[in-house]
Amino acid sequence: MSDTDRLEPASMARAFREARRRGMEVEPAVLFHDLGRMRARIGRIGAAFPPGALHAVAIKANPLVEVLRAAVDCGAGLEAASLEEVRLSLAAGCPPGRIVYDSPAKTRAEIAEALRLGVRLNADNLDELERIDALVRPEAAAGRIGLRINPQVGASSIALTSVADRRSKFGVPLEQADAVRAAFARYPWLAGLHVHVGSQGCAQAQLIDGIRRVEALRQEIRRARGSGAASVMDIGGGLPVAYRSTDRPPALEDYAAALRREVPTLFEGGTTLITEFGRWVQAGCGFAVSRVEYVKKDSAGRTAILHLGADFLLRRAYHPDDWHHDFVALDPDAAAKEGPLSACTLGGPLCFGGDVLARDLALPDLSPGDLVLIRDTGAYTLSMWSRHCSRGIPAVLGVDGGEIRVLRERERPEDVVAFWSRGRGQP
Ligand code: LLP
Repeated sequence: MSDTDRLEPASMARAFREARRRGMEVEPAVLFHDLGRMRARIGRIGAAFPPGALHAVAIKANPLVEVLRAAVDCGAGLEAASLEEVRLSLAAGCPPGRIVYDSPAKTRAEIAEALRLGVRLNADNLDELERIDALVRPEAAAGRIGLRINPQVGASSIALTSVADRRSKFGVPLEQADAVRAAFARYPWLAGLHVHVGSQGCAQAQLIDGIRRVEALRQEIRRARGSGAASVMDIGGGLPVAYRSTDRPPALEDYAAALRREVPTLFEGGTTLITEFGRWVQAGCGFAVSRVEYVKKDSAGRTAILHLGADFLLRRAYHPDDWHHDFVALDPDAAAKEGPLSACTLGGPLCFGGDVLARDLALPDLSPGDLVLIRDTGAYTLSMWSRHCSRGIPAVLGVDGGEIRVLRERERPEDVVAFWSRGRGQP
């Protein structure tokens, strides 16, 4: 089974019309996040894995506090890539025991703060373990500290999001397993292992291969040190999603079933299993709508200028071969735009030539005032917002059943001035 479940353009256009009818700020561009859909996906993860597992949604995919709060309220934990993301988790009401702090660059002060807060923490390397040892009270850290391993299964199809090639900057390479065994002998507070194979570009078999290798090491450590040892296994995220109607990513349930079959010890009692899905939870929950401001015509074709570009879809603008989004043309009333198709380039609002979202796309003839809907923008879009050219971030609206509410207000010029100023309210 593959997961081709995506929000339909008609329902997205309906949400846009309803938001506009309610006088919400949808011009010149607006972002949406479907919270009901997000809860359903978190529910599917919970049902596919053992009941005691912790599902920490990767904040870096979508750091909006209101989004995180909705995830936490339905039982999820949160995976934080920085101490700031730990603070976002707390702001969203996440209990510290459900926060997993991963970062390859934790300072001593950040480690001390994480230990004080009582969050879970995955060390990235052996030197970090030494730092933790100097700061930790072992009895207070019980079961909360893991060590990231690079399973060295090779790069995925997307080089920039590969983290399991031989020389990845993340984790202790599996070829140094002896040092990992020694660390468990030395640090009684070390409670488990962590692996994250990559994001979007990994096939299911590669994800499972990476997890299997690290789980084999964990089982070896348990055999050597007693079954109470290395009781935590964090298998990261990385499950890909469909960005095109022809994409056939694995279904979450099939992925979990394959893990249960191929790495059964993950599912045994006595193991605390942690997952860190980001994209799979969030990508398909988000969509964006921009007004077409101008349409330029020349001998080579047409270019429509939109209010979202490389600031919002950074990866798409810089690596269009790796990152795809579907664009749907709507008329000013947000009804599907009809008419013959012709090539149209979608340009963003920023001041450089590469700020292009799609080249020569077959679209109905766009005019100023028409709308362009961008699908599957819920993960790694707003969270990677670029301040280049200093445009304000549009309002983010949450769709929740029949309800629509503001998750983040549109930024005003004065908010952007504050961002670039000395700080803490000083001009
Ligand atoms: N856990 C760790 C330790 C991670 O580094 C990541 C993502 C995740 C979990 C969640 O992975 P997911 O389930 O979302 O694939 N478009 C971005 C992707 C960066 C992903 C980084 N890590 C980019 O282009 O940089």
